[in-house]
Amino acid sequence: MPGNPETQKEMLKRLRERGIPGYKIEGVLGSGAMATVFRGRQTSLNRIVAIKVLSSRLAKNENYVRRFHTEGRSAAKLNHHNIVSAIDVGKAGEYHYFVMEYVEGDTIDAALKQGKVFEEKEALNIIIQVARALKHAHENWIIHRDIKPKNIMITNEGVVKLTDMGLARELTDIAAIEAEKGQAWGTPYYIAPEQIRGKMDVDGRADIYSLGATLYHMVTGGVPFYHEDKRNIMNMHLHTSLTPPDHLNKKLSIGISEMIEIMMKKNPEDRYQNIKILIEDIESILKGNPPIRAHQSIDVGSFSPLASGDFVPPEMSDLEYEIIIRRQRIALIVCVVSLVLLILILIIILMLRL
Ligand SMILES: Nc1ncnc2c1ncn2[C@@H]1O[C@H](COP(=O)(O)OP(=O)(O)OP(=O)(O)O)[C@@H](O)[C@H]1O
Ligand SMILES: [Mg+2]
Repeated sequence: MPGNPETQKEMLKRLRERGIPGYKIEGVLGSGAMATVFRGRQTSLNRIVAIKVLSSRLAKNENYVRRFHTEGRSAAKLNHHNIVSAIDVGKAGEYHYFVMEYVEGDTIDAALKQGKVFEEKEALNIIIQVARALKHAHENWIIHRDIKPKNIMITNEGVVKLTDMGLARELTDIAAIEAEKGQAWGTPYYIAPEQIRGKMDVDGRADIYSLGATLYHMVTGGVPFYHEDKRNIMNMHLHTSLTPPDHLNKKLSIGISEMIEIMMKKNPEDRYQNIKILIEDIESILKGNPPIRAHQSIDVGSFSPLASGDFVPPEMSDLEYEIIIRRQRIALIVCVVSLVLLILILIIILMLRL
C-alpha cells in the first residue's frame, strides 16, 4: 500500500479515539496524494462506507477546505449507478472528511499493475460506463478533473463505479503534483494539457482527455507518455505527438485508435466536444461500425483548416442535420429549375428572332 504507514497508523489511532460522529472507523482502505481512505460503519443505517480524510497539508489550506465542503455538497446531489455516491461531508476535530458509498471490488489501476492488457471490447464496455457517469455529472455542471485508473472501480458484480466525483481538486494541478514529489503514486499520466497550464475554468473536455489516456493505458498496457521525471511527462502532454494505440497493439481496430486520438487531442477544440457524442462513437465501435463522429471531426479539420470558428457543432441533433440537408436539396432544385427555365427562355428568344 502506498503512503507512509506510520502516518496512516497514527491517523487511524487518533480517528478511532476521537471518532467522527455517526461513523465507526474500522480500517484503512488506501491513500492518495490528498487523503487517506478509511473503511467505516455508518451507525444509523449500520452500513459500511468509505471515509476520505484530508491530509494535514490540505487541511491547513483554508481556500481548499472551503471548496472541499461546497463541492462535496453539490456532488451529493448526483445520483447515478456508475458514480460512487457522496453521502456526507464534514469536520470532526481537525479532520475534514468526505463519506462515500463503499465499493467492494478493485480499481482498474490494480488490474493494470498486475500487467493486464484489456481486450478492446472489455475496455470499451468499462469506458462507456464511466462516460455515462460523466454525462450525468457534466449535465449537472460537475467536472471530475481527475479521471484515472485509480478512480475507476469495478464491483464484484462487474458494475463500474467512478470515485472521487465532486472531490475538489487543488487550485492548480501543478500544486498537487508538486506536493507528491518522491512518492510512488499520482504521477501525471492522465492529466489534460489545459490542466497542466493551470487553467482553472476547464470544462468537460478535460475529462474526455483523461478518459482517453486511461483507455489508452488499458488497451496498450502502457501510459500515453512516459518519463521518469514528472515535469517531462507534463511537457509531453503539451507538445509530444501521441503514438497511435494501434501501432502498439496490432489487435486493436482502427476505429478505437481514431477515437482515442481524438479524445486526446492537445487542443480541447479538436476533441469530442461533449461526452454525449463520445458515447455515440463508443456504441458505434461496440457494434462493429466505425466511429462516425470521429470521422466527422477529421473531415472538417483536414478540409477547412481556417474554418475552426465555423465548425458545425458536433452536438447538433440529427433533426438539425436533417433540416440543413433538406434546405440544401431545395436550394439545388431551385437552381436546376431556374437554369432550365433560363435555357428555355433563351431558346424561345432565339426561335422568335429566327
Ligand atoms: N468508495 C470507495 N470504496 C472502496 N475503496 C475505495 C473507495 N474510494 C477509494 N478507495 C480505495 O482507496 C484508495 C485510495 O483512494 P484515494 O482517492 O485517496 O487515492 P487516489 O485516487 O489514488 O489519489 P488522489 O488523492 O489523487 O485521489 C483507492 O485506490 C481505492 O483502493
Ligand atoms: Mg481516488
